[in-house]
Amino acid sequence: MTPTALPAEFYTPFLSDTAKSRKPSPIRSLFPLEARPGVISLLAGKPNASTFPFTSIQLTSRSPTDPSKETIVEVNGDALAEGLQYSATAGIPSLVEWVYGLQERVHGRKKGEGWRPTITSGSQHGIYKAAHALFNPGDSILVESPVYAGVIPLFADLGCNIVAVETDANGISSKSLRSILESWPAGKPKPKALYTVPYGCNPTGMTATEDRRREVLQLAREHNFLILEDDPYFYLYYGQAERPPSYFRLELEQPEVGRVIRFDSLSKILSSGIRIGFASGPASLLQIMDMHTAMSILQTASLTQTITFALLDSWGYDAFITHTKTVSQFYKQKRDVFENAMQKHLTGLAQWTPPDAGMFFWFKLLIDPDTTADGDSETVIRSKALEKGVLALPGTVFLPDGKKTAYVRASFSLLEEDQVNEALRRLKEVILEERTSINSA
Ligand SMILES: Cc1ncc(COP(=O)(O)O)c(C=O)c1O
Repeated sequence: MTPTALPAEFYTPFLSDTAKSRKPSPIRSLFPLEARPGVISLLAGKPNASTFPFTSIQLTSRSPTDPSKETIVEVNGDALAEGLQYSATAGIPSLVEWVYGLQERVHGRKKGEGWRPTITSGSQHGIYKAAHALFNPGDSILVESPVYAGVIPLFADLGCNIVAVETDANGISSKSLRSILESWPAGKPKPKALYTVPYGCNPTGMTATEDRRREVLQLAREHNFLILEDDPYFYLYYGQAERPPSYFRLELEQPEVGRVIRFDSLSKILSSGIRIGFASGPASLLQIMDMHTAMSILQTASLTQTITFALLDSWGYDAFITHTKTVSQFYKQKRDVFENAMQKHLTGLAQWTPPDAGMFFWFKLLIDPDTTADGDSETVIRSKALEKGVLALPGTVFLPDGKKTAYVRASFSLLEEDQVNEALRRLKEVILEERTSINSA
């Protein structure tokens, strides 16, 4: 049975005060009427495209099915005119339609069933707008911990009360989440949302299991919060086990849909510089986010949307999926190289669980083997490792409360095997020197 979509009024208590008083752009909200047959539009200050110098754009790209072949896609005529002009706030219609098709194919979410997409300038921008739509100072947000460091300043800036939820090798801990929610102080407003990165989490590389996801969804219903599913590593899953479904798909099993706002990104699979992502979720929340777009950047750049669509349309969905599989296998090989080097250089000196998705290795330095205390990687990484020419991130930057941790995040996306071995050999020297100085102290 198709679940019902939560009604627009459901979201009102979730909205921030600024979002509640936000008004649609008087010009952009009338854009759709320009397409009505017979209408002569005197509406928008659109520049006359005949004055623009571009006459066509040619894209040369590797074929997703045969990387030795290059194909040429030309953008001209109406598509180019659309790309060179202001366009709809939620995205150019062709790319929006492509996203509808993708989400149905990949997540089983059909058009017209309680959700819509909006094109964003990368997923970060989508999360930023969603956070502004939801949070007033003092509102609580649940975040998995460790968490993507890029959202900590965002939630902190909004004055959110950031509540850390534990994670382990199976992703977010539903047990920790339940215990937080069940012991929530009476009278204090419950968290409005949970922020989670369910595949190849940045920084831990962990992928949440299906059971965990189901329990989280169940808790969202019981305790009435939304789920911000930030999923830029979805297409970078290379685990042995069958891939778990997204929250966006799993919510179809609930009696109603509309608690999940999903953020996709093309940054890791097409180009991070092209700055294209998309949010998918309940229309009433996306409308508030679109108003934010309209008053800040008007819209995501039409030209990059046009270029993106031209490429994706020339491929078709099958070739797109083939491409994403090739990309995920590329990172799997990088992961294997990194793990082999970890075993070679850091066995006994660090602890880790290899990731099943994404591009990060999260490992704990065993600097002082005689202590049960958690340790602190910060000085070792920021100064000692850097002195030896290794740059990595101390785990503390991913902890919402910034507390000390012995963990380190290493990105393995760019390095060749010899560079990985050299970096980890240097890190081994650092740890051994630290151990010697602890012993002689
Ligand atoms: C978890 C997470 N969310 C969002 C982003 C930002 O992605 P985008 O380039 O789509 O804005 C990143 C980038 O590294 C990320 O790791």
